[in-house]
Formats: sequence, structure tokens, C-alpha cells
Amino acid sequence: MGRFTFTMIKPDAFAKGHTGAILSRIQEAGFRIAALKLTRLSPEKAAAFYAVHRERPFYESLVQFMSSGPVVAAILEKDNAVEDFRKLIGATDPAKAEANTIRKLYAESVERNAIHGSDSDENARIECDFFFSALERF
Ligand code: CMP
Repeated sequence: MGRFTFTMIKPDAFAKGHTGAILSRIQEAGFRIAALKLTRLSPEKAAAFYAVHRERPFYESLVQFMSSGPVVAAILEKDNAVEDFRKLIGATDPAKAEANTIRKLYAESVERNAIHGSDSDENARIECDFFFSALERF
């Protein structure tokens, strides 16, 4: 189990002004912010980030949504980071997410679901490298 995970506050949650509340919950849950940036994905970058989903029916819509406005990307550090973070954010579909999870509180729909969290240590490493250079990590 790795010490790091990658997260991204998605355009829906950023646009609604939930960034501060979400970062606060993340820190209160014991995660240390090791890297942080406000950025915007081009459609090409969003397509590359979600390339594993390219055969899915929702892929084009997901790419359009994820490139529609700024996102807040971060690397988070904690013991058992990937698994604990997925518990904190809740199920992909907010209708199925447990009470008090970030998606239950802030997500609009299965696509506009407020926040991303890596699903494995291997993907966490790939996703951290996608957004952050060594100089941007603390
Ligand atoms: P995320 O955890 O970032 O990983 C893939 C994303 O695809 C997911 O969050 C949602 O934003 C989106 N997604 C997953 N399943 C669906 C679905 N059934 N319909 C629309 N979007 C989806």
C-alpha cells in the first residue's frame, strides 16, 4: 500500500466554489498536501488522462466536461492513501455514495461528480506524473 494518491477537484465543484471546503475535508481526514495547482485541461489532455475509458459511451462527454473549466489537481500523502481517499470521496455515482462523503455532499451526477481519486497505487503514480514535475512536489 502506497503513501500517495492523486486527486482532482473537477470543473463542476470548482465553478460552484467548493474548493476550500473540499480541501479542508481532505486535510481534516489526515491527508497532507504534497503538491497543488489550479489548471485547465485542454480537450487533448483530458482525452489522454481518461484514455482507459475511451471505449465507454460516456467518454466524449467526460472529455468535454473535464476540459470545460479549471480543475484543482493535487498529490496527497497518507498511509494507505489510495484506499482511504476513495472512502472519503464515496462512490462514483453520488446517488450511491455514503453520507458525509465528498461526492454525496458536492457532486451533481455520475459524470459531474466533483472529484477524482486514483483507483490503484500504479494509477496514482501515473496520474501524479501527468500533472506534476519533481520540482512541484513538497
Ligand atoms: P472518475 O473517478 O474521475 O473516473 C472516470 C470518470 O468517468 C468518473 O469519475 C465520472 O466522472 C465519469 N463516469 C463514470 N461512469 C460514468 C457514467 N456511467 N456516465 C457518465 N460518466 C461517468
